[in-house]
Amino acid sequence: MSKPKVLVARGIFPETIARLEEHFEVESNQADALWTKAELIARLQGKAGMFSSGTERIDAEVLDACPGLKIVSNMSVGYNNLDVDAMTARGVLGTNAPDVLTETTADFGFALLMATARRIAESEHFLRAGKWTKWAYDMFSGADIHGSTLGIIGMGRIGQGIARRGAHGFGMKVIYHNRSRLDASMEAECKASYASKEDLLKTADHVVLVVPYSPASHHTIGAAEIALMKPTATLINIARGGIVDDAALAVALREKRIAAAGLDVFEGEPKVHPDLLTVPNVVLTPHIASATVPTRHAMADLATANLIGFLTQGKAVSPLNP
Ligand code: DGY
Repeated sequence: MSKPKVLVARGIFPETIARLEEHFEVESNQADALWTKAELIARLQGKAGMFSSGTERIDAEVLDACPGLKIVSNMSVGYNNLDVDAMTARGVLGTNAPDVLTETTADFGFALLMATARRIAESEHFLRAGKWTKWAYDMFSGADIHGSTLGIIGMGRIGQGIARRGAHGFGMKVIYHNRSRLDASMEAECKASYASKEDLLKTADHVVLVVPYSPASHHTIGAAEIALMKPTATLINIARGGIVDDAALAVALREKRIAAAGLDVFEGEPKVHPDLLTVPNVVLTPHIASATVPTRHAMADLATANLIGFLTQGKAVSPLNP
């Protein structure tokens, strides 16, 4: 019997390809070329499954053009590249890769918070540019982290990980806003208390965004929300581009309406709003919050297990629309 055909849409570990080849006939994009939608549709012809890095948009047009497709397996926890409703309507399964990246991503959120509050990137650029000629009492003074108030918007697994780091590791007062309140035992474990979005923005010294992207969360932070924040506050986005109005944020940073921002994700990435590239008080990283060697392997392994489980036994590990 011939093996089902699977498309791997971006470059991935050779071990991942080898594992998939045990079960499938694999076409892979190890050159990591960025395909257009038309190219993706052409490659998906005859494929039962697709291994996605989370960067390929799978919508009604793609699904209608690829009637043999049964599963799209994202190696990311975020799945805003998938039109899950359109997939469900056509009987196509979507899967994501939750849990395996939670702690790594929370580590990075905290690293970005610290780099932003303590002006690490800005001061490093200053030093590399040969501008450091003397010590000065006010050189690159930033904001304290220990003992400050941490506001987390989006209190899923990664938000909870950031709360634990802040409360237990740095003695921060943690407040959070979420669609629904955590139960009392989880609030106690994270030492976090619930706040309205408005109160959180008004009182937090450091605001961290960890909400999934959807039309409802588009521009969760825009000019009006930034106006509520303290002029000394920092804003960290490790969630998704589009959660923050990047143009409004660039204006606020330039006018020092808030002290600084740390951004790992951008509207329209890999493009970055040009105004963000010219303000000094922002730390910019290229969507690497989950990028450690073990975690990226774990994400690829889970995406692989979803394809193998579903296409060989009808059962995925982490289905989105079972
Ligand atoms: C995720 O898993 O959603 C990360 O943002 C990597 O894409």
